[in-house]
This record gives sequence, structure tokens and C-alpha cells, in this order.
Amino acid sequence: MEPCSPCPLPRGVAVALTPTGVRLVTNRRGSTVWDVRTAAERYAVKVGRPVPETDEHPGQDWTGVAPAREAVVLQLLDMFAVYGTWPYGTWNAQPWHEGTSLYELWEPQRDGGSPAPLDAAHACADALAVLHGAGWVHGDIHPAHVVIGPDGTATLIGFALAQGGPVPDAVDFPYPGSVIPYESPEMSRSILETGTAVPTIASDVYALGVAFLVSATGRRHVACPGDAPRAVQRKAVATAPYHPVSVPGLFGKLIEAMLSPVPGDRPTSAEVRSVLACQR
Ligand SMILES: Nc1ncnc2c1ncn2[C@@H]1O[C@H](COP(=O)(O)OP(=O)(O)OP(=O)(O)O)[C@@H](O)[C@H]1O
Ligand SMILES: [Mg+2]
Repeated sequence: MEPCSPCPLPRGVAVALTPTGVRLVTNRRGSTVWDVRTAAERYAVKVGRPVPETDEHPGQDWTGVAPAREAVVLQLLDMFAVYGTWPYGTWNAQPWHEGTSLYELWEPQRDGGSPAPLDAAHACADALAVLHGAGWVHGDIHPAHVVIGPDGTATLIGFALAQGGPVPDAVDFPYPGSVIPYESPEMSRSILETGTAVPTIASDVYALGVAFLVSATGRRHVACPGDAPRAVQRKAVATAPYHPVSVPGLFGKLIEAMLSPVPGDRPTSAEVRSVLACQR
């Protein structure tokens, strides 16, 4: 029997949190996210299930395990998370981070064609540099995985694919790739050739560069339609050249450097942060 969609709030969540209010946030293949309020706190609850095979998609099991893996990563990073199982997969609960994604935040500038305010870009680079400084790689950076809070600080979310600590085999799985336009060329190549890849600090910087570009302009840099088959999109990412970076000034030059096809030519996240600190 296939799990219903959206995944319901598992019984274990009610036992662990005693919710007073529940709101559906996202429901995509393999994952449902709920905004859960309790008497004292607010949590994001992620419920994972395997993605069944269809004519267009081979199906995948890792999405069922991803919430448990993410909770373990958060715990290894000294952040609060609880997790459990439900009949079709795993779930986790983690603190809710108030704010908007980078893409939402830059909507007025994007639509009005004016330059994006760079304090948010600086906050994103800072959050990534702190993660990298702690010896971790995020592996799934894209504009919806950066929450800019009311105080202007950025918080990274979506840690299910992060690498850097001892994740137990019971909740681990091979790195499956991320959202394709945000995948660096070396990662897309590796996934096409071997089915998996090793995310790195340089691939995170590439993904953040794409997140800056897409959030600032609304345009993809890869010359390939977003509805093309995944292998075709990966081939386009893996075989630059891309559309030119259409962001003016030093921010455009920085994004170009972040999108370098050669990982070693990209700045580190700390260097990106330093450049942006002077631009705010
Ligand atoms: N801790 C959090 N605080 C606030 N919002 C969150 C949090 N975690 C997730 N969200 C919201 O839920 C959305 C989906 O979360 P996330 O990307 O982590 O889930 P996912 O399992 O990767 O699902 P998807 O495949 O839909 O991306 C986020 O874009 C964000 O809007
Ligand atoms: Mg996600």
C-alpha cells in the first residue's frame, strides 16, 4: 500500500510535542513539512516517505530516511532535533526559524530590476562560512534552504544531505545529488558517471553563487529548460559554458568567480563573506 499524500502528522510527533496548532508548509514527492505549534514553541516537522517509481522517475528510497538523517546531523551540529519512525519512513522535529527565503526576500528588486541589497547575501555567506569552519559541508544549498530572519541573520535549513560527522549507517545513504541547477559541474558529472558524488566546500560555494544569481535575477544560468529529463539537465550543468552572469558590478564578478567550472578557482565561503562585508 502506498502512503497517502501529504504524509499525515505521525502519532509519535503528537506524543513528543503535544501540538496546539498544525499547518501544512510543503508537500512534495517524498517529503511533507508541517509547521507545528506547541504551548511554548514552534517546530518544523518533516515527514519522509519513499518515492514510488513512475514512467518519468525511477523512484527513490532515501527520502524515507532523510528526516532521521537530518535530525542526526542537527544533533551532531549541537542543534535541537528529535526524530522517529512512522509506517512509511522517518520524521523529525526541529525548531522553526522565522523569516523568508533569499528568493522571496529579493522579489521586489528582481521584479523592479534594481540591485539586490547585499546585507542578506553577506548573512548567507556568513552562515555557510560558519558551517564550513565547523568542518561540515551542506550539500543542498539553494535559495529555499536559506532563511533570512527578522534581525537580518541567515539560518541554513535542509541538512539531510550534509557531510562532516559520524552519521550511523542505520540512517545514512549515498549522496543522491541536489536540486540540479545548484549542482556544481563536477558533482553533476560524478552523478552521471557513478550515481553519486562527494559534496565539498567548493560545491557549496558554487550552489550559493547560483542561489545569489537566481534570487537576484530570476534567471537560470544553465542553458537547458527546467522541465528537461534530469540526465539532460545534469549534462547541461556538467558541460558549461552557461549563460553569462547578468548581475552588474562587483557582486556579478563575485558570482562569476563562485560559478567557476574549476572548483579550485572558486573563492572559499569565508572569502565570499569578506568580499560582501565590504559591499554592504
Ligand atoms: N526549521 C525550519 N524553519 C522554518 N521553515 C522551515 C524549516 N524547515 C523547513 N522549513 C520550510 O519547509 C520547506 C521545506 O523544507 P526542506 O527543504 O527542509 O524539506 P525537504 O524535506 O527538503 O523537502 P523538499 O523536497 O520539499 O525541499 C522550506 O523551504 C521552508 O519553507
Ligand atoms: Mg529541501
